[in-house]
Amino acid sequence: MDATDGPRILQLGVEDAAAGLALSTEARWNQTEDDWRIFLHDGVVFGIRDGARLVATAALLPYSGNNAWISMVLVTASHRRRGLATRLVDMCMEAARKRGLTSWLDATPDGAAVYGPLGFTPTLQLRRLRLVTSAQASLPAPSAATLEALCARDRRATGFDRTALLEAFAGRPGSRIVSANGAIALAREGRTAHHIGPLFADNAAAALSLVGAIAQSLGSPLLLDAIASHAAFLDGLTASGWTIERPFQRMRFGPATAAGAEMPFAVAGPEFG
Ligand SMILES: CC(C)(COP(=O)(O)OP(=O)(O)OC[C@H]1O[C@@H](n2cnc3c(N)ncnc32)[C@H](O)[C@@H]1OP(=O)(O)O)[C@@H](O)C(=O)NCCC(=O)NCCS
Repeated sequence: MDATDGPRILQLGVEDAAAGLALSTEARWNQTEDDWRIFLHDGVVFGIRDGARLVATAALLPYSGNNAWISMVLVTASHRRRGLATRLVDMCMEAARKRGLTSWLDATPDGAAVYGPLGFTPTLQLRRLRLVTSAQASLPAPSAATLEALCARDRRATGFDRTALLEAFAGRPGSRIVSANGAIALAREGRTAHHIGPLFADNAAAALSLVGAIAQSLGSPLLLDAIASHAAFLDGLTASGWTIERPFQRMRFGPATAAGAEMPFAVAGPEFG
């Protein structure tokens, strides 16, 4: 299909946050209106309307070092399989190309079917896990850590400077940054569940113990997006009541950029990487 065929693609503004939230809520995603404001304010969000109703979106969020994250690729159920997601992701890729950015994304299985043909190639695997009832033994509450410590560890692990993003998360009511035994994590409120991530640790035992302590202090439901190659971490989570909901496939379009020096145990979310 030619880029000019089909419904017009618009660039959305912060005033579209509630309409974006309606789309992510339809898909049963966990984003809040505050999350949408990050994409609409700090990134570029493309959308398609049917009349006044927003029916499809895709976002490009630039990060440091010529990188960008593509996410919030959503098409309302009645408008799927018409090529809308393909056109919107194509717009994001074009915006990234113009700025010389390598694009990254964490794809759901449905999303991977769209991104593969566009030229994205798989990198690492993630698993979305959910905790509904905690089976943790009694653990001490984790102690508060600083935003600076989290940003420094995040920069080391991802290779991106995401101070602005982490500062925005940390500034929300209900967010906390905690650490114990060399592990550090951020937990924030989502639409239906608290989300834990990013989470960094020196080993799986420290990561599991920090997750356990967070679960005990926050209660459930909780979500986290673990890097699948941390097998002992995943095994420990499932043994303590977490269930694997779905896989995510990390994909990249563009030249490989500087790799991080440390693999996080859990990421900030598939929409943020
Ligand atoms: C994934 C999603 C965005 C696709 O939107 P869409 O507008 O239907 O996608 P397109 O029409 O551009 O599809 C392009 C191609 O991708 C493939 N594809 C799309 N959805 C697919 C699915 N559910 N299963 C298998 N292949 C699929 C097909 O090859 C399709 O081409 P075809 O229809 O000619 O066969 C939409 O299904 C959606 O919103 N799903 C829920 C949210 C989600 O998972 N988003 C992706 C996050 S990474």
